[in-house]
Amino acid sequence: ALPDRVRIHEVGPRDGLQNEKAVVPAEIKAEFIRRLAASGLSVIEATSFVHPKWVPQLADAEQLMPMLADVPARLPVLVPNERGLDRALALGVREVAVFASATESFAKANLNRTVDESLEMFAPVVARAREAGGSVRGYLSMCFGDPWEGAVPVDQVVRVSRRLLDLGCDELSLGDTIGVATPGHVAALLTALGEAGVPVGRLAVHFHDTYGQALSNTLTALRHGVTTVDASAGGLGGCPYAKSATGNLATEDLVWMLEGLGISTGVDLGLLTATSVWMAAHLGRPSPSRTVRALSHQ
Ligand code: HMG
Ligand code: MG
Repeated sequence: ALPDRVRIHEVGPRDGLQNEKAVVPAEIKAEFIRRLAASGLSVIEATSFVHPKWVPQLADAEQLMPMLADVPARLPVLVPNERGLDRALALGVREVAVFASATESFAKANLNRTVDESLEMFAPVVARAREAGGSVRGYLSMCFGDPWEGAVPVDQVVRVSRRLLDLGCDELSLGDTIGVATPGHVAALLTALGEAGVPVGRLAVHFHDTYGQALSNTLTALRHGVTTVDASAGGLGGCPYAKSATGNLATEDLVWMLEGLGISTGVDLGLLTATSVWMAAHLGRPSPSRTVRALSHQ
């Protein structure tokens, strides 16, 4: 059975723009987020409060967030540590995400920590964000394959998933950071998480389209009961600390499939496509999304 409704967790302004060589001005980012909200997206990840030297593309978070006060959408942000949380709380942000790795190699590359050390770093972040009345998403990267370690064992992913939920994360987003997952692997991981007692209602999936499998993987996840799907407008983004990662699943491709299945998303595909065409013009190259290209004759 398939769900009646899917919540799209839009990551373009964060996961997309963090991977662009050019630094997009805050005014353009704000306009991008306003347009995404106007197209009907209700959760839009706005930026990250990480070290500005690690991700210079998002170093303007303090400038950007106050420009978004009137945007009618939830605008969560990434925070790696208490310093990041303090910055977010100071701006009145209450919805945050921490980001862990299922593998040691990526934990080191992305967070300069072991998996254990990064979970220790997140513990007070999750606790304090919840005390402040916020909700916390936990990302788990490299749930399927890792550029240094190859295929990632399912039980290793289940173990770190459990630990993120035990820290108090409300939601867990399973990341195929380099886009190597296939539907059988997705089914195996979701089955194993279910057997480990993880409620499917707390799971989201985050696919990259490196091998063209992102939609097949998404459909597999929907059949397993997942109803929150991450996607990036126009297919923007990869990950700066995982070189083989290409774009995220494009939001337009996802909406096209869901509409065809009669699953409601609340998104106006025409407005969304126009937004990605506008952003592509700003970035100076066409959107990699097949749906954007088809609908806009780019
Ligand atoms: P570190 O060098 O170990 O930091 O980096 P540290 O804790 O040793 O601190 C060093 C200095 O940085 C200190 O300053 C801190 O104050 C400062 P000093 O005392 O030397 O003057 N500092 C900060 N400044 C501003 N904001 C902060 C902050 N934290 C420390 N938050 C750290 C550790 C975690 C900070 C670093 O590794 C980092 O910022 N990493 C972020 C990397 C990142 O954003 N990656 C992309 C997101 S993950 C992703 O895209 C995957 C995902 O999309 C899902 C998927 O596809 O799989 C989520
Ligand atoms: Mg991603």
